[in-house]
Amino acid sequence: MRRVFITKVLPPQALNLLGGFSLDIFPRRRNPTRMEIMRGVKGADGLLCFLSDMIDKEIMDAGNLRVISNCAAGYNNIDIEYATQRGIAVTNTPDVLTNATADLTLALMLAVTRRICEAEDFLRKGKFRGWELFLMCGMELAGKKLGIVGMGRIGTEVARRAQAFGMEILYHSRKEVEGIGRIVSLGELLKISDIVTLHVPLTPDTFHLIGDKELDSMKRSAYLINTSRGPVVDEGALVRALKEKRIAGAGLDVYENEPKLTRGLLTSKNVVLLPHIGSATLEARMGMVLLAVQNLIDILKGKKPAHVVNPSVLI
Ligand code: DGY
Repeated sequence: MRRVFITKVLPPQALNLLGGFSLDIFPRRRNPTRMEIMRGVKGADGLLCFLSDMIDKEIMDAGNLRVISNCAAGYNNIDIEYATQRGIAVTNTPDVLTNATADLTLALMLAVTRRICEAEDFLRKGKFRGWELFLMCGMELAGKKLGIVGMGRIGTEVARRAQAFGMEILYHSRKEVEGIGRIVSLGELLKISDIVTLHVPLTPDTFHLIGDKELDSMKRSAYLINTSRGPVVDEGALVRALKEKRIAGAGLDVYENEPKLTRGLLTSKNVVLLPHIGSATLEARMGMVLLAVQNLIDILKGKKPAHVVNPSVLI
């Protein structure tokens, strides 16, 4: 019987699909350590893991995996090049989390521009003394320019939502998207956008895509939103820009060294900080789990899965 190692306890609907396999499930509520993953993959044909599990050469060499099914759209936690070299198929779970992540991006945009968290804190602290003309004034979205960096599935859905708020869409992407906004260079996007939102995968090319220079080229009245991957932004540079008010604010769901935050971020007033919950709706998370299980089963049964990151290994 084929053996599968799973690094988190999955809901019964997902486990039921794996009836024909021998399952080894990491039972704790914390993430497994490297050693625990290494022990798990020994003798396993498949690994079902999450973005919090770093799957590198050493882990792959500890076993004889045929598939690594990542329960996430992003797969920067896996050494894809080495997996491909070893003939291990790597699968991921895009699409099912697009709406959830696009919604959360808009939520962050609204929260930071309308000072939602600051205003709620003000009220909870008993500081609300009644309506005032300019109390907690923020920025309106209608008529403003939204600069989207990365116009893939999530970027496109963010654009659609932002258009419904009356925003003008600019985007920087490898390919042009018909009928939505205007494609521009990254330099132009940073210079003229009122809000810049990041939707690129983390790769060597996008590591620290936004640093001191890029933040400096943004308007002092502009906001930065990141629901992609933390290391796309140089967090130290962002903290400096926020403290020196070189940008108006930021809304972040992801961090450079999760779960740690760069010193100064927590104490910055003009930021809204969330704990990587972009895809945290029941619909999206169940969709991700079921898709990750199905991808894994498909590979182990010799079928082509819905989403494979390194299709060359299937030939
Ligand atoms: C992903 O799937 O890449 C998301 O970051 C998970 O929330």
